[in-house]
Amino acid sequence: MSDEIHKVGVLGAGQMGAGIAQVLAQHGRQVVLGDVSLDAAQVGKAGISKRLDKAVAKGKIDGSVRDAALSLITPTAAVSGFETVDLAIEAASEDIELKKKLMRQLDEVCPPRAILATNTSSISITLLGAATMRPAQVIGMHFMNPVPVMKLVEIIRGLPTDDSTHARTVALAEAVGKTVITSADSPGFIVNRILIPLINEAAFALQEGLGTAEDIDTGAKLGLNHPMGPLELADLIGLDTCLAIADVLHQQLGDDKYRAPNVMRMHVAAGWLGRKTQRGFYNYAEETRR
Ligand code: CAA
Repeated sequence: MSDEIHKVGVLGAGQMGAGIAQVLAQHGRQVVLGDVSLDAAQVGKAGISKRLDKAVAKGKIDGSVRDAALSLITPTAAVSGFETVDLAIEAASEDIELKKKLMRQLDEVCPPRAILATNTSSISITLLGAATMRPAQVIGMHFMNPVPVMKLVEIIRGLPTDDSTHARTVALAEAVGKTVITSADSPGFIVNRILIPLINEAAFALQEGLGTAEDIDTGAKLGLNHPMGPLELADLIGLDTCLAIADVLHQQLGDDKYRAPNVMRMHVAAGWLGRKTQRGFYNYAEETRR
């Protein structure tokens, strides 16, 4: 393989980590999928299995392709099994202290040659790299949600990231079928620098009563040709994640144009985090919309 990455450790088996593990395994990489407990990692793998079953039922892939991909994914507790990976991807919640802790843990366990990537959507790669003893081998590998569907991977170089780490990470992303852009290490990088102000503005419009959530989303879908409206997209990403990114942009760029709307903060405080909790800007428990 041109990227020389045969075995990958994915730390975090939520919607992003599981999606990343699925894509890697479908392209022949061996994956150890870690989470806080073996049970949590197994839940992540069960979700992958369900999605692959659907693809088989739709005739998109053969049963043997599904079986081969699943056989390459080993769920594990925390970082057990990461001792032999070529590259590790941290894919936990968007929390600076948590991510620093996990990067330190990966640094202790992964072999010296391994690249340590993070799927952070806004936190500085340079900062996370500084939590390790190998900052030159730390890089941002930002996948989009839903990972199996979205074509882009945004690669972010920290200040000390070396050329070989960048080249090998780009090669891996391309080998698993993604198109790559490279961003400098700045809050939100390229994609979320654009997306989060859009989502915030849609939520301000809702908060100010310009229209219903459906009006606002239909405006973006039919008026701008977006595949999803910003409010339903925020529900898909997770309102806690959107809020965490908005707070990083606001604090670190220091411009009030990035401030999060109160309606988003209150939804997060109420535990209405979007699709994953059945309620966000929309109520999915009723599933009245689709
Ligand atoms: N996981 C895997 N596959 C999924 C999926 C998921 N969660 N959701 C949908 N799909 C697949 C479906 O199986 C289907 O596949 P096939 O065509 O092979 O049958 C395909 O996607 C289309 O799905 P649907 O027909 O059910 O629905 P759709 O046509 O409305 O598309 C969508 C759904 C792909 C999510 C589309 O609405 C879309 O592209 N939305 C925008 C998503 C987006 O902007 N993502 C980026 C978010 S930003 C980000 O992730 C960065 C960050 O840091 C916050």
